[in-house]
Amino acid sequence: MDIPVQDQSATAGDTLDLRDPYPYFAAKRRGGPVFHGTVMDYSKTPESLRPSDSYAAVSYSAVSSALRNNRVFSSQLYDSTIGVFMGPTILAMDGARHRAHRGLVSTAFRPQALMRWEPEIVRPVCNALIDEFAERGSADLVKEFTFEFPTRVIAALLGLPEEDLPFFRRAAVAIISYADKVPRALQASKDLKHYFLGQIEQRRANPTDDIINDLVTAEIDGEKLTEEAIYSFLRLLLPAGLETTYRSAGNLLWLLLDHPEQFRAVQQNRDLLPQAVEEGLRYETPLTFVQRYVTEDTRLEGTDIPQGAVLDLCLGSANRDENRWERPEEFDIFRTHIPHISFTAGAHTCLGLHLARMETRVAMECLFDRLTDFTLSSEGDPHIFGQPFRSPNTLPVTFDVVT
Ligand code: HEM
Repeated sequence: MDIPVQDQSATAGDTLDLRDPYPYFAAKRRGGPVFHGTVMDYSKTPESLRPSDSYAAVSYSAVSSALRNNRVFSSQLYDSTIGVFMGPTILAMDGARHRAHRGLVSTAFRPQALMRWEPEIVRPVCNALIDEFAERGSADLVKEFTFEFPTRVIAALLGLPEEDLPFFRRAAVAIISYADKVPRALQASKDLKHYFLGQIEQRRANPTDDIINDLVTAEIDGEKLTEEAIYSFLRLLLPAGLETTYRSAGNLLWLLLDHPEQFRAVQQNRDLLPQAVEEGLRYETPLTFVQRYVTEDTRLEGTDIPQGAVLDLCLGSANRDENRWERPEEFDIFRTHIPHISFTAGAHTCLGLHLARMETRVAMECLFDRLTDFTLSSEGDPHIFGQPFRSPNTLPVTFDVVT
């Protein structure tokens, strides 16, 4: 069941426009909290990976309540999609197994580690990237900054040598784009398995101070992670940690460049950055939907959904729900803060959300501390695009260096 996608001449809301899917989401919400159909474009997905029946939750309350009921709306679905390439990970587990496994891997994301990462890894990575283009007075902030910093941060957190970055990045992109090129993604999955097995072996021989070492030594009630669990989790961190973070940083920059008064306010007062980051995530979430498998016949906010269907949980639509926010279609960093759902909710709430917020804030601080008077050029028609992942492909800017 493919959705009608992208016809620039269609009336707003009739079709899902990849440049601006929000009128489509709003039209669907007007029809009710849940609809029979999908927000996913399956046109390039192999037949074997397509669901036979789909529903989509579009209101905040429907999305939020389904996320909190993992027994009926199960994450196992991912075993037959991205799990084919990542292996068994917490993303696709439910119930007690998920809790135990998540407890083990979350030791790597403890708050003390996060506090150290900011000055020791994130700030130096961002500043080194800015060093490369500051004197030029112009840059493409996507290609030279937002696309670069999360990969370098993750590689440093994992303790990977810098010379492995190109391999690591290529393999990450291959896994993330699995729906387009299955054989390439399978090969990348194998390559990463061998690569990470080597890294695990090295940590066993010579313990280090990084996430891979934490995963090798993590233990709760005598339970340790198997090798397969470790390299699968590391493969999950690629789409989970890179793709979302680089896109959300690009979205925030685009939104600020498009709203000069709010941009000026943030540049003058860095204390506004955390709320700007949250509003950016609400208004333009980098991931517009997640999916669940329906394990039994059920009813969600008035719609009957049969066992075996796939339910799309449309985060992008939930974040613009007029029953939760006033003026939801306006980007306003000064609005009263009401939590968005871009990191989802319930058992699978993003494990890296504190890291993601810190990385985005620090990246913006580094940029605005060193550069000023940004002007966006229209070259290449910069705009946010895509679904389920959304971000600008290019952000060509000119700027002055702060003296
Ligand atoms: C702005 C950036 C980010 C966004 C918007 C985001 C969003 C999400 C979402 C929506 C999920 C839930 C998926 C589902 O339930 O189907 C998730 C899960 C997860 N995220 Fe993030 N993420 C971000 C950054 C990160 C980072 C930086 C990391 C780690 C390096 C990370 C690690 C994870 C992990 C491990 C899970 C699986 C949690 C579980 O299944 O229990 N994420 N993320």
